[in-house]
Amino acid sequence: MSYQLPENSEKSSYVQQKFNEIASKYDLFNDLITFGMHRYWKRFVVRQTGVSPDGMCLDLCCGTGDIAHRLLRAVPQGRVCALDFSQGMLHVAKQRGMATGESPVFLQGDAIRLPIPSERIDAVTIGYGLRNVTDLSACLAEILRVLKPGGVLVSLDVGKVRLPVLAEISRYYFFYVVPRLGKLLYPGQDMFDYLPHSSINYPNQESLKRIMLSAGFKQVDVFDFLFGSSTVHVAYKP
Ligand SMILES: C[S@@+](CC[C@H](N)C(=O)[O-])C[C@H]1O[C@@H](n2cnc3c(N)ncnc32)[C@H](O)[C@@H]1O
Repeated sequence: MSYQLPENSEKSSYVQQKFNEIASKYDLFNDLITFGMHRYWKRFVVRQTGVSPDGMCLDLCCGTGDIAHRLLRAVPQGRVCALDFSQGMLHVAKQRGMATGESPVFLQGDAIRLPIPSERIDAVTIGYGLRNVTDLSACLAEILRVLKPGGVLVSLDVGKVRLPVLAEISRYYFFYVVPRLGKLLYPGQDMFDYLPHSSINYPNQESLKRIMLSAGFKQVDVFDFLFGSSTVHVAYKP
């Protein structure tokens, strides 16, 4: 357990570089560590947007485009933009679009400086992204800026397990098993240590809800899965 998280000033380039390195096996890794359950959670995220078929959606930190491609099916007459700063992850996401024949509009950029005009988006989704940005408040402010009044943000991320004994099991799995599974795919890759360690300073479900409310969202609903180890925040712009 000698892993050291990068300094905040280096976090952005570290995260970008590491996701480039693991992009080609990221989906397999996700399936392995969640036993495929991330697929169900992502479907839940899309349902929670409540977006109409002609809606405008933005998937932030889109990675390999898992959520963005699901959003496409929810807005057959609308539009989906998907943004990430990792070229490697975007490359995999675009290939997926070529395979299915339909694709979101992919943008390479930083989730805390969105290249999108204000009040254009009905629903913003973000899967395992808020934990990775260097400035959570700046990211929430950007999301609020691009959302239309009444728009919704749906965030999926790791949460904190409340029951002490289950919290210990979850900690063992996340800190001991997950990095080893990752290193089976990419021997020596320290990104798989970053993932659990990045959750240490990430706010728990209640704190994140408070942060979202003080950022300016009017209502935040929280849904826990697997005893809270996975969590979804649904936040509404006034
Ligand atoms: C754990 S992956 C999640 C991918 C996908 N959303 C999913 O649910 O499977 C996190 C992604 O966020 C991206 N990311 C992290 N910080 C970012 C930032 N500040 N701006 C844009 N993308 C970022 C990474 O490049 C990576 O693709």
